[in-house]
Amino acid sequence: MEAKGRFITFEGGEGTGKSTQVKLLAEALSGLGLPVITTKEPGGTEIGQELRRILVTGDKDKMDAVAEALLYYADRRIHMTKKVWPALAEGKWVLSDRFADSTVAYQYYGYDKRVPYQTLENLYKLTVGDFKPDLTILLDIDPKIGLARSLAKAGHMAVKETRHESRAMEFHNNLRQGYLEMAQKEPERFVVLNADKSIDELHQEIVKVVAERFELT
Ligand code: TMP
Repeated sequence: MEAKGRFITFEGGEGTGKSTQVKLLAEALSGLGLPVITTKEPGGTEIGQELRRILVTGDKDKMDAVAEALLYYADRRIHMTKKVWPALAEGKWVLSDRFADSTVAYQYYGYDKRVPYQTLENLYKLTVGDFKPDLTILLDIDPKIGLARSLAKAGHMAVKETRHESRAMEFHNNLRQGYLEMAQKEPERFVVLNADKSIDELHQEIVKVVAERFELT
């Protein structure tokens, strides 16, 4: 059988436990003998790491949604061309902690739709073309719980990646609703899971979803 890579993205607001779940799913898939890599946006490449520092640290008002969207898309273009597409071409399973849905959720819905949606669609076409993830797992949580988790984690970080966390609760509520709308519009790509549960319970649910979707035994 011809090796075929798969692209699975994880999405959600702050503090949903995405990065832990990406790591656990990668271990589970590797355990089945599948070739897996994990990555993230922003920051999946060397240049991406520099863009990440600019994007997720510092004052929330140091740039607006348009500037953010352009930088996230610059990160994404490098990420796709240098890492994701080459890995998929080698037949790898690529698990990404965030992808383009984050830009729609944060820069469009979060900012109360002040960036035209069409502009983000055009950036997607330019950067990613017709390519889409095979599966997007949306981890949904009440932002009050998510933000508390996320800020507790940031307390242990040398460089505080809390630029978006510092935004008003309205921003976080908007982006949560936005994600849920996006999932409703594309039910064949998205699976929405309630993330307000133990790490292991959530992991078991994710494994079940992935096993069913890709017919793994
Ligand atoms: P995270 O890796 O902890 O999720 O941090 C990335 C931050 O960047 C998070 O606050 C969400 C934000 N973000 C956007 O605002 N737009 C995007 O397109 C992406 C990929 C992330």
